[in-house]
Amino acid sequence: MPFGLGGLASLLTLGIAVTGCGSDSTQSTSPPSQPSQPTVDTVSLRTLANGKGRLIGSAVDRGFGYSGSDGVTFKTTLAREFNMLTPENDMKHERIHPGRDVYRFEPADSLVTFADANGMKVRGHTLIWHQQLAAWLTSGSWTTDETMALLVDHVTKVVSHYRGRVIEWDVVNEALGDNGSLRPSFWFDRIGRDYVELAFRTARAADSTVALFYNDYNIEGISPKSDSLYALVRDFQARGVPISGIGLESHFQLGAVPSTLGANIARFAALGLKVHITELDVRMTTPATAAQLQTQAQNYRDVVATCLQYPACDVVVMWGFTDKESWVPSAFPGWGAALILDATYQAKPAYTALHDLLK
Ligand code: XIL
Repeated sequence: MPFGLGGLASLLTLGIAVTGCGSDSTQSTSPPSQPSQPTVDTVSLRTLANGKGRLIGSAVDRGFGYSGSDGVTFKTTLAREFNMLTPENDMKHERIHPGRDVYRFEPADSLVTFADANGMKVRGHTLIWHQQLAAWLTSGSWTTDETMALLVDHVTKVVSHYRGRVIEWDVVNEALGDNGSLRPSFWFDRIGRDYVELAFRTARAADSTVALFYNDYNIEGISPKSDSLYALVRDFQARGVPISGIGLESHFQLGAVPSTLGANIARFAALGLKVHITELDVRMTTPATAAQLQTQAQNYRDVVATCLQYPACDVVVMWGFTDKESWVPSAFPGWGAALILDATYQAKPAYTALHDLLK
């Protein structure tokens, strides 16, 4: 078992980690109808994934002790069910680099410390993206050379800070439009297409071993966008630009997992790349019906079963795990219920489907 700790060991570490991480009030203030322990299987997803040599992860919003996701139930469930986490927002430019000469690592550090204490791996998300950029950056007027220097400074400082603690980085996030061309963005508009390559080369210079990923949505199946990424990767490989893998975000609508997911994973894996599922959720119109929840379970199962067929697909991260804390209802009004536990931490059919699959 190459990764982390087994279920029993992780349970033993929980007390230490939970008391060591910020203020916790969720459990003591929960209404009586909310169980203190989730009614999920006694053998966790994490234990089952460990047995298959896979990492199963969740995004976590907000560093522990800073607000948000820091209740006891949240943390115990996170550490019991997952052997990997991704900071949902705390490593993004606006959070981690709020002033030109100001880096604020503490919130993300608290998540990395929690992961370390609980034998979990960390995906770094994300270095260069067109969204959630600090205002000091977007409101400045910068020449091409200045923008390149700002990119290099940002990537170097953040990657260096987490050297040895983050196992893979989303170096560039969502650079492609749906038509497959590089989208206009703060970085593209000032540097041109070379910004993508500059980010990867700079990350590699800052950490000689961490895995370097390109991450995006609508590249899960075979499409003009994933074809374009395929060409970009082949060009990188031909010219010696470092790239270790691609991240398939996998924010799916109910019933819309692409049928070409497996073929697409296969073609990128054949290039020697890792292909990781990085932000999986399956959203539905709410309130959810029993039939929708069954379809959702089938969709989760299909994604993870397809991934399991390929050694290159050894990481599956969901974009959260409880419907209590998910980006979906605010990003897609009228939609929700996208994760595998409900808002009271009860197992949904999707949890059971993954559990049965990993057994
Ligand atoms: C989302 C977060 O979940 C939200 O909390 C935030 O307000 C916006 O960003 N693709 C990505 C993620 O790569 O970083 C996004 O996360 C979801 C889509």
